[in-house]
Amino acid sequence: MRRVVILTGAGVSAESGLGTFRDVGGIWSQYDLSEVATPRGFARDPGLVHEFYNARRANMRAAEPNAAHHALARLQRAHPSAVTLVTQNIDDLHERAGAGAVVHMHGELSRALCAACGARWDAPELMHPADACPACGAQATRPDVVWFGEIPYRMDEIGRALARCELFVAVGTSGAVWPAAGFVAEAAEHGAETLEINLEPSETSGLFDRHLRGPATRVVPDWVETLLG
Ligand code: OAD
Repeated sequence: MRRVVILTGAGVSAESGLGTFRDVGGIWSQYDLSEVATPRGFARDPGLVHEFYNARRANMRAAEPNAAHHALARLQRAHPSAVTLVTQNIDDLHERAGAGAVVHMHGELSRALCAACGARWDAPELMHPADACPACGAQATRPDVVWFGEIPYRMDEIGRALARCELFVAVGTSGAVWPAAGFVAEAAEHGAETLEINLEPSETSGLFDRHLRGPATRVVPDWVETLLG
């Protein structure tokens, strides 16, 4: 089995009923990104930001992993040392499908973070601006998610995996957001083959060697079956 890095985006969770961001009717057509997904937006109106993520946490808990999440978990369980699963998604559907190690580069809805002391803990169902940090008591709790203008998590580890992978696969991502949009070029520079699995051409389609088009729940299980032989 070749060493593979798989990067997933909102498209992998779309058929579980969680909205994507940039498709027609997507999350960024309903909400102002600068109000709900930036440190400045949080400083201005923390209640609004908590409401946004509370609603997304509720949607996540009501959703079930789909056939694409299950297939990727099957692949990772079969070859745990060869497969690195990186996601831009803040939902927990990869884990609930049975994936072991998932690199959540944009954080996780199910975790809370203290902006004052950096402590992290399991997020309650609903978070509020007045919630006190269990470690230091500050009323500075926020969802443990990465906002625009912040540095994504675990970039060193991702960089190392991209440098030594032989195959890079992007699933259900528009290639609109950096640094994830740059992973395909980084992997290719190090000699990896690159494959895009997406419903339609993305902003970075031209950088991939191969493309599989269609809904993730159909295309991903077929691709995993081919790989597992
Ligand atoms: P986008 O909403 O930008 O892109 C989703 C992609 O999935 C699009 O290219 C769709 O064509 C594709 N797609 C939709 N349904 C699909 C399906 N059933 N099967 C396969 N593909 C499908 O979402 P992301 O690329 O994940 O960041 O967005 C990246 C980041 O932008 C997110 O992590 C989030 C957002 O702003 C932050 O909030 C920091």
